[in-house]
Amino acid sequence: MKKILVTGGLGFIGSHTVVELQNRGFQVVIIDNLSNSKRDVLDRITEITTVTPEFHQLDLRNRKDICTFFDKNKIAGVIHFAAYKAVGESVHQPLDYYENNITSLVYLLQEMKTRNIDNFIFSSSCTVYGQAEELPITEDAPVKPAESPYGNTKQIGEEIIAESCEAYGIKAIALRYFNPIGAHDSIKIGELPLGIPQNLIPYITQTAAGIRKELSIYGNDYPTPDGTAIRDYIHVVDLAKAHIAALERLLGNKNQTPFEFFNVGTGIGASVLEVVACFEKVSRQKLPYTIVERRTGDITAAYADTNKANKELDWKAEKTLEEALLSAWKWQQTQ
Ligand code: UD1
Repeated sequence: MKKILVTGGLGFIGSHTVVELQNRGFQVVIIDNLSNSKRDVLDRITEITTVTPEFHQLDLRNRKDICTFFDKNKIAGVIHFAAYKAVGESVHQPLDYYENNITSLVYLLQEMKTRNIDNFIFSSSCTVYGQAEELPITEDAPVKPAESPYGNTKQIGEEIIAESCEAYGIKAIALRYFNPIGAHDSIKIGELPLGIPQNLIPYITQTAAGIRKELSIYGNDYPTPDGTAIRDYIHVVDLAKAHIAALERLLGNKNQTPFEFFNVGTGIGASVLEVVACFEKVSRQKLPYTIVERRTGDITAAYADTNKANKELDWKAEKTLEEALLSAWKWQQTQ
């Protein structure tokens, strides 16, 4: 059984990926500093898979701890989720974002280099494309200057990995996520936003649950059919499965170049108003909302061309927006 290190494995995407890894028979060891996750996610993972992953509460910025960890564990591959991810916060606290997201990445790669561990999966984001000229967005679309320090950590992260692959013979895949949403079918794990949600789906579900008064829709004057912005919302379980496909590609040496990157989305764009309508349908209730000004930094439309991931990873998103929103709503009701 191959032992896979999952950093940030108790977070939203990390926990769903741990479940899929264990379902496939991988042995999982999690490192998480619990800065944006809860320890009892471990119990939920155990309930879903009947296996408790090994867990170490460590901070990846603590180089000595990480070195000791690698001394004691024989790791076949690393899936690196642990990072700060709030776009707005990153604008006010850029150094925290660079320190956390970049330092932890560099330390991990250094350990991998020293110990000849050569399979690395990185959480990247469609944010690297900014507002792409052409839709759907292919991996050939140029990387645009980042709109936020958070986005910049993803771009710099990809560059650091590409150069490390070149220099040290590490193999890596960056997955450029579109908008991950939803919760596991068991409704035992899901998204746990800190404070007031910045992202659309948790804001919608909290509004429907009466925690928030109404949803503010940021702008209805975009050049889209209904005037609201378009995104590619992907079910987190589909996204988790893309990590397994990427890992198996690396472990099987099926990668074509040392560093590869793939879009991970559904290929289908949905506007904010379409998401609201779909949510109202699955939850069978009206969602109070009001139209407000555009949010600074938001783009008009982004959805993925998924051909590369479909062909090379032999992976495809299977779940619909309805299924994703229903699972997010069920999850909210358990909170
Ligand atoms: C944001 C980040 C992206 C990050 C992703 C997941 C930006 C520019 N991008 O994507 O880098 O990877 O989150 O964390 O911030 N909306 C509302 N009302 C709300 C919240 C959102 O109308 O209360 C709208 C937004 O304007 C947008 C859409 O819903 O059109 C999706 O927003 P959100 O869920 O925040 O994701 P992104 O902004 O696409």
